[in-house]
Amino acid sequence: MKLLVTGGAGYVGSVCAAHLIDAGHDVVVLDDLSTGHRDAVPDGAHFVEGDIADIAGDVLAEGFDGVLHFAAKSLVGESVQKPELYWNGNVVKTLRLLDAMVARGIPRLVFSSTAATYGEPEQVPIREDAPTQPTNPYGASKLAIDNAIGSYARAHGLAAVSLRYFNVAGAHGRIGERHVVETHLIPLVLQVAAGQRPQAQIFGDDWPTPDGTCIRDYIHIDDLAVAHLLALTYAQPGEHAIYNLGSGTGFSVREVVEACRTVTGHPIPVEIGPRRAGDPAVLVASSAAATDALGWRAEKTDLNTIVGDAWSFMRLREPV
Ligand code: UFG
Repeated sequence: MKLLVTGGAGYVGSVCAAHLIDAGHDVVVLDDLSTGHRDAVPDGAHFVEGDIADIAGDVLAEGFDGVLHFAAKSLVGESVQKPELYWNGNVVKTLRLLDAMVARGIPRLVFSSTAATYGEPEQVPIREDAPTQPTNPYGASKLAIDNAIGSYARAHGLAAVSLRYFNVAGAHGRIGERHVVETHLIPLVLQVAAGQRPQAQIFGDDWPTPDGTCIRDYIHIDDLAVAHLLALTYAQPGEHAIYNLGSGTGFSVREVVEACRTVTGHPIPVEIGPRRAGDPAVLVASSAAATDALGWRAEKTDLNTIVGDAWSFMRLREPV
């Protein structure tokens, strides 16, 4: 298929683009490089620098079989401080993209959604029919887009799938997580082992969990990418499907730190800090629906494998 990958210079978009190319698809990456990296765009992709709201229509005029839409703002804390970046950058720009897709008759969309659409869960593992009560503008903006996609699909015959990611981690060879402002647990803890920080911080050890630290569902970036390829072929005209993507297993912050110690051989000192505002105690996905519909299940579920791939990527860039 000929596919447009928006945000294909970012972490998730670039790895998915690499998987698409490996599977024989013809890939055009559109990215404004506001947070992505030009050198993360995989070999074999045609790169167009620009803003989806301005030029997606022109790019799509070439004719495409589908769009995978990753371009977005994705920091929970920033979304609370600067909600306008999220409502404009995520919602308004995606509406322009959807309009361009309809105008150009592009039949398929796979959208990068998030577990943050659910907010504080009432039940764990979280299924797709759980209430959607996002606790921050980031999650609310992604939920608004999911809703818009549903109505565009029904009205205009678009074949659409939203994939709601839990905690994406790991790396795909030379492509990995490289945020200018890093907020995610695994890269921050590995930065201690790499000598870039004196210690890791644990945001609270008084949560109602077995070891007192928050539990999350870490999904390997390669497993996540595979689900996108399956969703592309599964999508049905006029329908919008939504699937959670996680490994189904929760690991505590302390277990993640321990895995980082095992993988790196570094003692990684930790400091217990206060709880971070807005953190739920436990987030674990039920991916049963994705397994039933797409035949997908996470394969790289071993925490040491996930952390090990993130560590190999970090050492490739900055050997220690
Ligand atoms: N944490 C620490 N110390 C740190 C960083 C994180 O203890 O230095 C803890 C957090 O409190 C949380 C866990 O580690 O309990 C994971 O935190 P991350 O920031 O790595 O990830 P989140 O679970 O906050 O966020 C992820 C995605 C978001 C998405 C959210 C869905 O990164 O994009 O899941 O709930 F919105």
